[in-house]
Amino acid sequence: MGEVTPIRFSEAVSASLEDGVLVVTIDNPPVNAASADMRSGLLAAIRHAGTEDAISAVVITGAGKTFVGGADIKEFGQPATEPILPEVVEAIEKSSKPVVAAINGAALGGGLEIALACHHRIAGDRAILGLPEVKLGIVPGAGGTQRLPRLVGIAKAVELIAAGRSVAVSEALSLGIIDQVVAGNPAAGAVAAARDLASQPLRRTGELALPVEDPQVIDEAVDKALSRARRGAAPAEAVQLIRRAGERSLAEGLAEERATFLRLRDSDQAKALRHVFFAERAAAKVPGLEGVEPRTVRTIGVIGSGLMGSGIAVSALNAGYRVIVVEQDAEAAEKGFDRIAGLLDRAIKSGRIDAAGRAERLLRLSIGSVQDLSTADLVIEAVFDDLDVKTELFEKLDKIVRPDTVLATNTSYLDPDAIAAATSRPERLCGLHFFSPAHVMRLVEVVRCGKTAPEVLATGIAVARRLGKLPVVCGVCEGFIGNRIFSAYRREAEFLVEDGAWPQEIDAAMEDYGFAMGPFAVFDLAGLEIAWARRKRQAATRNPSERYIEIADRLCEMGRFGQKTGSGWYAYPDGKRTVDPEATAVIEACRKAKGIAPRRVSSDEIVSRLLAVMAAEGDALLAEGIAERASDVDLVMINGYGFPAHKGGPMYVAKEGLHP
Ligand code: 3HC
Repeated sequence: MGEVTPIRFSEAVSASLEDGVLVVTIDNPPVNAASADMRSGLLAAIRHAGTEDAISAVVITGAGKTFVGGADIKEFGQPATEPILPEVVEAIEKSSKPVVAAINGAALGGGLEIALACHHRIAGDRAILGLPEVKLGIVPGAGGTQRLPRLVGIAKAVELIAAGRSVAVSEALSLGIIDQVVAGNPAAGAVAAARDLASQPLRRTGELALPVEDPQVIDEAVDKALSRARRGAAPAEAVQLIRRAGERSLAEGLAEERATFLRLRDSDQAKALRHVFFAERAAAKVPGLEGVEPRTVRTIGVIGSGLMGSGIAVSALNAGYRVIVVEQDAEAAEKGFDRIAGLLDRAIKSGRIDAAGRAERLLRLSIGSVQDLSTADLVIEAVFDDLDVKTELFEKLDKIVRPDTVLATNTSYLDPDAIAAATSRPERLCGLHFFSPAHVMRLVEVVRCGKTAPEVLATGIAVARRLGKLPVVCGVCEGFIGNRIFSAYRREAEFLVEDGAWPQEIDAAMEDYGFAMGPFAVFDLAGLEIAWARRKRQAATRNPSERYIEIADRLCEMGRFGQKTGSGWYAYPDGKRTVDPEATAVIEACRKAKGIAPRRVSSDEIVSRLLAVMAAEGDALLAEGIAERASDVDLVMINGYGFPAHKGGPMYVAKEGLHP
């Protein structure tokens, strides 16, 4: 290696000259975001390279574990400062000397756009690459929608950009997003590649012709992306920009992209999604856990292999853990194994894993009895929600596992403090409340019980995060954050029906607002019998002056438990949700019995009332100290209950006065 001369272009950007290659390092903690200072430094470095004869090529890399984490989200909402990112990106692509991206870590949003403008891309094996802008309610604003399709084709670009999906290096390489992968830090390889490229014609992404594609494949990708977007504006706008990439010049495409980016950046949806972004970061900061290290977990025991247990087991296998699934007898064990293997088969079908991945996962799985849990570092119980069953199980478990094993219950409604009290070390128990299907749903409520030790809570959070989940910490109350708000939502939805709204009108209003499913469709999907059993339990202690709706009780008495019995609030001939005259008659009879003259309820009233009760219950949870912050409540409702992320969550809507 020749002389090393450090040059500083801005606070965040410095470079050294290595054998005629200017190695530019972006050092802008925490994630090397493309702030105003970073942009001006990077542009200065590229311009410097262009004018210095001693420099034959440039390498751009990031300090720390990120390449560039994208535009600086904290700058959004403020006037743009020159130079803007597209100007920097253009200077890179147009450089007469080769520019190589040494992608040492995450290259996201504007970070990937910088890399796409480089003439060659080498990534370290732990990097991830993606254009997640739609998750912030915007489209890529520095060429992503125009350059990525030139590398991967329109269909693939639509799939990635409209979902904001990031890819690991193996996929990025096979798609042609990057040119090379190296183990560890890619900087040295990039210097060698840059030197080689200095004597060759440059491959400028923006000048590439679009790959030839089957129009039907494009249409399918577009349809899929649009149907997933629900009411979110950004994915549809991104799809439009990508589709037109082939029809216009690069300059025209970039101009339209930029205009769309600026328009969306100031939209209500983008503001709400920025709230969600920062809410997720805030949720990771748990009071009382500062400096607390989680325990090491390698082996996870999962008790119960029903729908929930098998989903948790698959999540744990996907995350690389050894998993011991516990069942009562050989028959149940066999069924559990089949369920887990079936979920892995589906993952193969959808292309998420391959046959070797399935085989490797199954090697890490064993099925046994409670006695086999002596080697587990964490045990998650996911058996039938019955206090006697659970306390008896934990009493037994307590004597089998090591003293430092963390115990977790997946109970939805029972008191985890009562379960902890059945053990000799209640401080080692926390709640890990997964949502079904557990291998898909991102939310996990991590329940801090009365005696949970900080290290135990930290372990629950760390494992949830490694499973790729979003852990939200909460205290103990019936239903925790999510189900308690959901109960209030259910109650109000039923009030609305008694007042005169039809379930199908309520569902339509909420789906139009952006919910994946309206409340009555959800009740039918989840089944009506659990809530019915709870109501019967509570009947003796219920305040008789409280408004009580009997419609659901009548439906249950008729054996209408929802989709699984073919009818509930709706009927399901051929599996299709249909308004059922029999349910309508039940509703009318219940209204009549109370002497209620039904009135027309507008969709605005439906949405307003349902959002208001969610926020009111959220306020109560905050006042009781069950939820730490309002934004945690928003995250629970978005990630566990289908609240549209682009609306920001019920607490955000209430705070910003965004009710219809
Ligand atoms: N701008 C400003 N701050 C950012 C940021 C960004 N792009 N990305 C992360 N941060 C901040 C976080 O708020 C957090 O701050 P805090 O410590 O004060 O809470 C800190 O950086 C660390 O973030 P994480 O906890 O998320 O760190 P991880 O190490 O877990 O993850 C990451 C790193 C993968 C880069 C992750 O932060 C991430 O996904 N960031 C967002 C990426 C993104 O959405 N980029 C697109 C931006 S929009 C864009 O680029 C527009 C362009 O097209 C013009």
